[in-house]
Amino acid sequence: MHRASMSKLIHSRRDFLVHAAKAAALGISGTAALSGVSSFATPLTGAGQTSASDELIPYGAAARSDALVSDLPYRDAIIANCRMIVPESELKWDALRPTRGEFRFEKSDAIVDFGRQNGIAVRGHTLAWYGAMPGWTDEIADRAEAERELVDHIETVVSRYRGQIPSWDVVNEPLAEWPDDEFAFRPSIWARRLGADYLSIALREAALADPDARLVLNEYDVEFKGPRFAARRKALIALLRSLRDRGVPLHAVGLQAHLFADRAIDRDGLQALLAEIKALGLDVLVTELDVIDYTLPGRVSERDAMVAGVAGQFLQAVCDVVRPKAILTWGLSDRYTWVPIYFTRRDGMPNRPLPLDADLRRKPLYDVIDEFRRKPA
Ligand code: XIL
Repeated sequence: MHRASMSKLIHSRRDFLVHAAKAAALGISGTAALSGVSSFATPLTGAGQTSASDELIPYGAAARSDALVSDLPYRDAIIANCRMIVPESELKWDALRPTRGEFRFEKSDAIVDFGRQNGIAVRGHTLAWYGAMPGWTDEIADRAEAERELVDHIETVVSRYRGQIPSWDVVNEPLAEWPDDEFAFRPSIWARRLGADYLSIALREAALADPDARLVLNEYDVEFKGPRFAARRKALIALLRSLRDRGVPLHAVGLQAHLFADRAIDRDGLQALLAEIKALGLDVLVTELDVIDYTLPGRVSERDAMVAGVAGQFLQAVCDVVRPKAILTWGLSDRYTWVPIYFTRRDGMPNRPLPLDADLRRKPLYDVIDEFRRKPA
């Protein structure tokens, strides 16, 4: 990029930060102001004026702190394409809390600093989840201790980043794999010791620690055809209603959207879920979009087209009902993706779930996301 356009970009981003601070109460909604300076889509053109309806849906990706330091092309691609980032692991319990009583913020601070220096908003992920728990939490013996640990953790982490992390996945993946009613939570130390109350404890504490933060409940496997996914949608709606009935603070639902190229999107089921979410006054974010391609044909062009096609079906179904406050993918480039941990291809070829390939070149998935970001406000 030319020096002049770079300084213009930085200038715009500074403007954004001022704007974002003013709009802090809006939380993530304020980041819409970043739209138009992204090179993820066509950059701002003409006189540089955009009306609200021209603003693009902010795009972001999960980012890795180590790679931001070791891999400069990757770092540049994040800066060039992302209006927001979410630390892929750095804010999880096992990263922050290797031992009881200890908080390690080096890596999360590094990502938050990187975001601030580059005018990129940072989302927080995650405060109450069954996964990525350090071994010592197995020793949490009773209700009082669980509540103390959960509250202390959220108080410490959320207040540290108050004003710097405007949106938090407070609760991640609360539902059982195949819930039979609204109280079918996925087993975790929190569900075991606190039952359904762990959600309200976590959300209330996050609201206390940062009253301006947007609080998100993040869930996966709610968009496909089949009885398990229908049961998950039903349980999610029941859960959201019960939180609302009890006055628990919550602003948005995050659809993770780990899609599978060979699983059909249930357009009607997904849209009914979104209509319910909307009726409850909650926003929607797409938080972890990628397309798991391990069963797809090996030919790259064919595979990339199928990946983009599934994402397009999903985004079309979503955008026909709501305008998501953000679209994030779980990683930017196929160079850094979680997919092969669980979904390695039999033919030994690398997975291609993300908008940029391993050489940081745009793929059809990139264009599909770009297209849906233009949905009018
Ligand atoms: C994944 C990370 O990407 C991996 O690097 C890590 O080893 C395991 O967790 N849903 C989530 C994310 O909410 O936190 C998960 O991230 C992917 C699935």
